This record gives sequence, C-alpha cells and structure tokens, in this order.
Amino acid sequence: MNARNTLKVNELGHLEIGGVDVTALKKEYGTPLYVMDKAYIEDMCNVYSKTLQTEYGNGLISYASKAFSCLEIYRIVNSLGLGADVVSGGELYTAVKAGFDTSKLCFHGNNKTEAELIMALENNVGTIVIDAYSEAEKLNSIAKSFNKVQDVLIRINPGVEAHTHHFIQTAKIDSKFGFSIENGDALEIVKYVLTKENLKLKGLHCHIGSQIFEKKSFALAVDKMIDFYKIVKDTLNYEFDVLNLGGGFGIWYSDGDAKINTSQYSEYIKTIAQTLNKSIKDKKVKKPYLILEPGRSIVGEAGITLYTVGNIKEIKGVKNYAAIDGGMFDNPRFALYQAKYTVCAAEKMNEPTNITYTIAGKCCESGDIIAEDCKLPTLNENDLLAVFSTGAYNYSMASNYNRNLIPPVVMVKDGSSYYAVKPQTYEDLIRNDI
Ligand code: LLP
Repeated sequence: MNARNTLKVNELGHLEIGGVDVTALKKEYGTPLYVMDKAYIEDMCNVYSKTLQTEYGNGLISYASKAFSCLEIYRIVNSLGLGADVVSGGELYTAVKAGFDTSKLCFHGNNKTEAELIMALENNVGTIVIDAYSEAEKLNSIAKSFNKVQDVLIRINPGVEAHTHHFIQTAKIDSKFGFSIENGDALEIVKYVLTKENLKLKGLHCHIGSQIFEKKSFALAVDKMIDFYKIVKDTLNYEFDVLNLGGGFGIWYSDGDAKINTSQYSEYIKTIAQTLNKSIKDKKVKKPYLILEPGRSIVGEAGITLYTVGNIKEIKGVKNYAAIDGGMFDNPRFALYQAKYTVCAAEKMNEPTNITYTIAGKCCESGDIIAEDCKLPTLNENDLLAVFSTGAYNYSMASNYNRNLIPPVVMVKDGSSYYAVKPQTYEDLIRNDI
C-alpha cells in the first residue's frame, strides 16, 4: 500500500482508513463497499492548486469528474475553489445540483447532443470545448438564441504518444478526439470558429491520455501547443488567453508503478509550469491562463473497495480462486484494460502472505476478475479483502450487470464516516422497467 498517514495497519492487525477500522466499516455498511479517504482528496486538490499558484500564477485546477462523479465530490471540490470538467448532461446535472460554481465548469465530449449544449447554456457553463465543425455551428446558433456569446476552447490533437494502455491514449494521429496540428486540421478549425459571432474562442485544449508517469510527455505537449499558439499568432494575428492541457497523471496501483505521495504530485505541475514559462518566453507568445484537469490522481488512491470472500476454489496444481461479493459491476478495469490491482486481507494484515489467489468477481463471465496472482494469507469464507486505488473509474464505470447492485460510497475522515452515495436497492433496479 502507498504510505500516508491516513492509511495504516492498527494494533489489531486491521487496515485503518481515515482513522476508521475496516471491521467497523464492514459492520456499519456491509460489503461490497467503496471507501473514500476524504483527507487524501482534499490534500491532492490543495497540493495541485497551491503548486499551480506558486509555479505559474494564473490558472485553475479543474477536477475531471468522470473519474468519480456524485454530489459530494462536486461539493468537496467546489469548496476548495477548484473547477471541474464535465462530459455529459448527467455529470453537468449532478454538478449543478451540488451547487457547483458553473462558471468554473468546462464541458467536454466528442459528441455533445443538442440537448446537452442547451443545458450548458441554460446553466451558464464557463467553457465549452468544441470537437467538431457541426458542433461549432450548432453551439453558435444555440448561443445566438440565448443572446449570449459563449466562451469556447477547441480540442486539439498535439500528436504526443504517451506510454499507457492504447484505449486510454488520446492524442495519437488516428484519435477520435480533436483536430490534428500536424495535418493542418487544427488551423482550419481555428479559422472557422473565429468566424462565429456567438462564440468567443478563448484558447485550445488537449489531453494526451491517462495513467501517464512520464513528465516529458506533458512537457512535449506544452511545447507543441505553444508552437501552434505561435503559428496562430503569426498567421491569423490572433492570441489566445487560455491553455487547457487536460489531465492524465499516473497513480500507484501495483508493483511497478511509482509510489508518489501527495506532495510529490506537485512535480507534474512544476514541470508543466516551467516548460510553459520557457516556451512562451522563447516563442514570444502571450502568457495564457493555464487549466489542468487531473481526475484519477485526485480520487484514485483515495479509494479502497472492501469485499467479503465467499467461495474458495482450488484447482489443484493450477490456481486458487477466491470469489468475492463484488466484481466487474463495481470495477470493470481488469476486464477492460487488464488493469492490475493490489489486494490485501484487511483483517489479517500481519499474517504471512504465502498463498497465491486470483480474486474472481461474481458475474457470469470468465473475464470477471479483479486481480490475478495475489499473494495473500490463507483465506477463509467471510474474510474481508481490500483492493487499493479504486477511487477513480470504478464507481463511475460501475453497472448493474447481472442485476447486481452498485455498492454504496462512504467517505472517511478523522475517525468518522458517512454515506456519499447510499446503497442501491432491488426496487431501484426495476424503477424504470415497464
Ligand atoms: N480531461 C479530459 C479531456 C479527459 O478525457 C480525461 C480523461 C481527463 C481530463 C482526466 O484524466 P485523468 O487525470 O483521470 O487521467 N476509464 C479509463 C480512463 C479514461 C480517461 C478518460 N479521460 C480508466 O479506467 O483507466
């Protein structure tokens, strides 16, 4: 597990998160259960915001809420002065209901519907990121009907290939996102959007991918974007006010991933700020307001999922399966990306880990695995397992597959806990059935 003072093994040999023993959590809320360490989330928000202020000055950390979206996270993030990025009517709706300052919302997506664009205008969303000609056209006429001039950015593909799973790489030349600088598409869409009377083109946006550790990928993206800012300045005599560089900072999941503490995450921001400061100076480009959109790194390591072991199956000489009361319906990341996770027996933290188990979910799919080849103590039915780093893209990608219930989310801090998301009920499952 990653070292931090809100996560420890207590004198009973139990895992303790935010000062709460997992046994108490299991008793009060049952399993499967998403547990979120609120202090970790707050720490990450503050570290990012503070570093952006000190290293660069003019900018905003905009939490990428697709990583984990519910009323409470928008409330937390908003109270700390961050912005947020939303990618659907549903995320926008949740942010609005949470009382989020909508002027600090940035609306993304490669195919926003007309209804979503109208909703964004109705709620005075600060910035909308355009990702198609037809979208610019549509948004312009919607803004006109509202008698508004909408601030927009354009999604650009800077052509930086980051080292991560190919499904979560987004800036390759054949990406469905953005307009490529390399082939001239980016300049053409800039010209086009500048002709739209009810759109104010504030700047450009890019996002090179997710779960990226290499700082040089971000530095490269900065340079490519500022090179392009210079091209736009020289050819169109237009200077942008804003640069949004997206998110993507990697987190620890398992052996082989760097273990970075909250304050060390500031290094990503420092690299970006330093590269940007140098680049704008070298290319004599106006200093832009800098927006960064981390999602995974704010909530990912804050999350731990608790499960209860059910059936244990030993296939002699081949494999030991420990089946849990959760699975791909609460964490589809192994099934989707062969993602690796670290698992522990949360009430046997001091016991020797000399047996290898594959942790299997309860869905009717062979691929419903949470983690393979985990070194654990001998497991028995009803043992409690904890899976680390499940705060991002778990609850937000959960489903009711096999009509399993999506687990509740509990926040823990300073020895107490509360529901952020209540448990679903079977009644919820049939609520919209006719
Ligand atoms: N900004 C934009 C425009 C994005 O598309 C994303 C993530 C982010 C920011 C935040 O990136 P982060 O800091 O969280 O890496 N479901 C996948 C991850 C997909 C990420 C999509 N975009 C997973 O479970 O790994």
